Amino acid sequence: MTSKPLIDVLAGRECSPPPIWMMRQAGRYLPEYRQIREQAGSFLKLCLNPKLAAEVTLQPIRRFRFDAAIVFADILLIPSALGQRLTFAEGEGPRLAPRIGPENLEKLEGSVDIGVLTPVLETIRLVRRELDPAIALLGFCGAPWTVATYMAGGGGSADQAAARLFAYQDPQGFARLIDRVAQASVDYLVGQFRAGADAVQIFDTWSGVLSPEEFDLWCVGPTAEIVAQVRDQIPGARIIGFPRGAGTSLRRYVDQVPVDAISLDWTVDRMFARDIQSHVPIQGNLDPHALLAGGPALDRAIDAILEAFSNGPFIFNLGHGILADTPISHVERMLARVRGH
Ligand code: CP3
Repeated sequence: MTSKPLIDVLAGRECSPPPIWMMRQAGRYLPEYRQIREQAGSFLKLCLNPKLAAEVTLQPIRRFRFDAAIVFADILLIPSALGQRLTFAEGEGPRLAPRIGPENLEKLEGSVDIGVLTPVLETIRLVRRELDPAIALLGFCGAPWTVATYMAGGGGSADQAAARLFAYQDPQGFARLIDRVAQASVDYLVGQFRAGADAVQIFDTWSGVLSPEEFDLWCVGPTAEIVAQVRDQIPGARIIGFPRGAGTSLRRYVDQVPVDAISLDWTVDRMFARDIQSHVPIQGNLDPHALLAGGPALDRAIDAILEAFSNGPFIFNLGHGILADTPISHVERMLARVRGH
């Protein structure tokens, strides 16, 4: 079997040059993505059309030959499977209705409509067939806390206030919401592995807004539970955790969530991160704004990361998704520098 550099790193091996991919690598900065999205009619229709979703998943691989393809979908398909109505208004971001609060939790008690998620599993099967065996295929889901912030807020918000308030005012009710999302996520991730994913990433975009106690309750505990339950069904399942903005709480996350790698945002202190890397492989860290800026500033940012993390298991990536205005030439410059040509 051909080895996949990214999977080697998840197994704890050092790779030189490091494997590289980008969060949100299929997206609006690519003209070929914008064209297919237009053809699909909307972002959501694109997510749920396996042929077109497979095509946009493969676009960044064809153009840049990244070391991983990530299935084109969205973390908010889970709330949709749980019965919330999901829409993406043009230029406004996601909307979920009705908002979930202590008063209407029973809305979540019905069965999960797993049918909403089957197109994504089909996308994984289609990509698997086309993908070079040296390139890893990644699935993903949102972490329960991050998904719950959208479910309680009815969409995105500046401070995740609705979920934070709900969690303080009715911790038992909030735990039911988190548990519901976690259970659906276990089924979803297991389905992704069975469809052909080599590894999955759990995105906790908003973990950085929580106090340490709440971080342990709503991020660490439920994510550890998902990892354990997925591995009950898929022994040895490879899982990357991304607790964005966790700061020094990363230490407790690493100790208590047995993931195969930790994805780092760009704010983390690199000495601290090297200490994390002595326990678990790491990924990420390039500021998406450095990639947007390009030129010598980008080169310096890349060099600092390579110098800090190349002596251990490391996957090159951004510290969050690529920004839509990023020039393609900056991505090419990054790849050439990381790969040393
Ligand atoms: O990384 C990839 O290329 C795979 C696809 C992927 C998307 N969303 C496609 C997408 C992944 C892994 C996600 C994860 C996701 N979705 C997260 C966690 C990671 C993060 O970015 O913080 C979150 C919070 C969401 C929810 C979401 N989806 C929001 C808030 C928005 C609107 C903001 C925006 O950037 O437009 C989306 C839309 C979305 N998801 C787009 C894409 C390519 C843009 C849709 C478009 O084409 O207009």
